[in-house]
Amino acid sequence: MAGLIEKYRDRLPFEEGDPVISLDEGATPLLYACELSERLGCEAWLKIEGANPTGSFKDRGMTCAVSGAVRDGSTAVVCASTGNTAASAAAYSARARITCAVIVPDGKIARGKLAQAVMHGARVIGLRGNFDQALKLVRELSDNHPIALVNSVNPLRIEGQKTAAFEIIEALGPDRPLDALAIPVGNAGNITAYWKGFTESAGELETMPKMLGFQAAGAAPLVLGHAVAEPETLASAIRIGDPARGDQALSAIEQSGGAINSVTDEQILEAYRFLASHDGVFCEPSSAASVAGLIVHGVPEGVERVVCVLTGHGLKDPETALEVGGGIIACEPELAAVEAAVWG
Ligand code: F0G
Repeated sequence: MAGLIEKYRDRLPFEEGDPVISLDEGATPLLYACELSERLGCEAWLKIEGANPTGSFKDRGMTCAVSGAVRDGSTAVVCASTGNTAASAAAYSARARITCAVIVPDGKIARGKLAQAVMHGARVIGLRGNFDQALKLVRELSDNHPIALVNSVNPLRIEGQKTAAFEIIEALGPDRPLDALAIPVGNAGNITAYWKGFTESAGELETMPKMLGFQAAGAAPLVLGHAVAEPETLASAIRIGDPARGDQALSAIEQSGGAINSVTDEQILEAYRFLASHDGVFCEPSSAASVAGLIVHGVPEGVERVVCVLTGHGLKDPETALEVGGGIIACEPELAAVEAAVWG
């Protein structure tokens, strides 16, 4: 049987016989990162969430949110998004054969995500505003109309996303305890979900992992302690100035003895390139914030094993990759020219 709901039904609010809308999400790799481990001076593991069906961790939450919407009789869903939630909501809605509307900041989301949303047949609305404005509007919309909100303010999103914590515990096993989890923070749903997953698994853990959240410096309301009216970062997925679950994220960080810090766009790009060129893992820039954070701020004392959550696949954002990656060498179709090109 496929998918998260079937696998973790005993720990999710779904009964036998409830409708299940799944694309066989979850069960993503937990990969040991040799080069990153060397650089950090501790064991570093990567939770490759880009291996989910639509290329991001959102699918974990979306299987639950869309299944719940169908169970409740909804025929339409809506979300605000910096891109990945839109792609995931569009795919799961297509699978459920229900209507989906996504509201994204116009011109500010990665092309791959936009391509997914349009291909899955969502109504894609380009808002002349930012994510925070979009979220406020969709909350009002769903209060006033029979349309289910599938942003992470929906508790079913958190339920689905907590399963990634279960998978990490299963994969590491009892002999390799996890000391810390590094994770990018935008609207703060995912860090909240991981902490819920770890908390529910407390019986299986000797110590709770420290939650290390990282925001982009231009969009770091939780680090600054106040909302940011005009967030700006090239990590477009986490370009959020007023996170809906900010308080819960801060309490998870505090309870776990963790920390919230920021990283600049340059530091994010350096980590993004490092992961792709040294450990062979291509994630999107926002995902690399988790790795950048550890590189820049260091691994807290006593942490021997850390998992970095790589939230989305690098192919989501080919434009940034082509801008910051190595150039392309033009070449005539002749052996001598190819030899010169290959060996420089
Ligand atoms: N990484 C990626 C790739 C994301 O798409 C997001 C959020 C985050 C990290 C942060 O997660 O919001 O739970 O703290 N993307 C949302 C979206 C906002 O609309 O796709 P968070």
